Amino acid sequence: MKFNPFGWRKRRKTASVDAPPPRHIAIIMDGNGRWARRRGMPRTTGHAAGAETFRRVATYCKNIGVEYLTVYAFSTENWKRPADEVSSILQILEKYLAEAISTMERDRVKMRFFGDTTVLSSKLQQLIRETEELSTQFDGVQVNMCVNYGGRDEILRAAQAYRADPDAPTLLTDAAFSRYLWSSGVPDPDLLIRPGGEMRLSNFLLWQAAYAEFYFTDTLWPDFDERELDRAIAAYHARERRYGDVN
Ligand code: FPP
Repeated sequence: MKFNPFGWRKRRKTASVDAPPPRHIAIIMDGNGRWARRRGMPRTTGHAAGAETFRRVATYCKNIGVEYLTVYAFSTENWKRPADEVSSILQILEKYLAEAISTMERDRVKMRFFGDTTVLSSKLQQLIRETEELSTQFDGVQVNMCVNYGGRDEILRAAQAYRADPDAPTLLTDAAFSRYLWSSGVPDPDLLIRPGGEMRLSNFLLWQAAYAEFYFTDTLWPDFDERELDRAIAAYHARERRYGDVN
């Protein structure tokens, strides 16, 4: 190969249709509010539409063999929103979980929750417990729902848990620290998708996204569909992941 002083590598141009999907996809479901406003509807309608998109995308991920799907449903910063919007998002989540309990067995979907869920309503906490308990029986796609989640909060809590753990290893390695995170046992995301036009992480999976491939699109989350996910996966397959190495 010709010497390249900058170490740049050519990207593969086309994604192979036969390539396996990314093992773990993470999504910041952004753009619900704008989607609704453009239609003259309240922002809360956008969140309801966003929840429908999540359902479709989760089903598609299951069908194409994605093992883990992590979604940002409610951040530690989202409490700053008007109270009616906050309660609407949490109600949509409640409704979704109540329905999911009856379909999880059919779909073999597992669910986990990342974030401090202890501040949520007792009904929501109960639904979270039930879905997590049910999940232990299934072996399908694992959905990780980030609720009252913040990446910095997660790292701080992990550091505190490590300090308080009498059995903590004295040598704190990357792998050892990861076990104190909410995502313990879950492989890092391979592909992180943000619809809605913004290009930032917004406190999502700060630790875990260290080597994720990012895909940004202007499509608003409620308009995101299977074709858009295919495009994101094709872009992912065209990347060369080097993890800091030269090849
Ligand atoms: C960001 O869009 C979206 C949220 C803060 C909430 C996402 C929540 C859901 C899709 C419902 C959760 C339920 C399930 C079942 C996953 P935004 O409101 O910031 O949009 P904007 O940037 O257009 O204002």
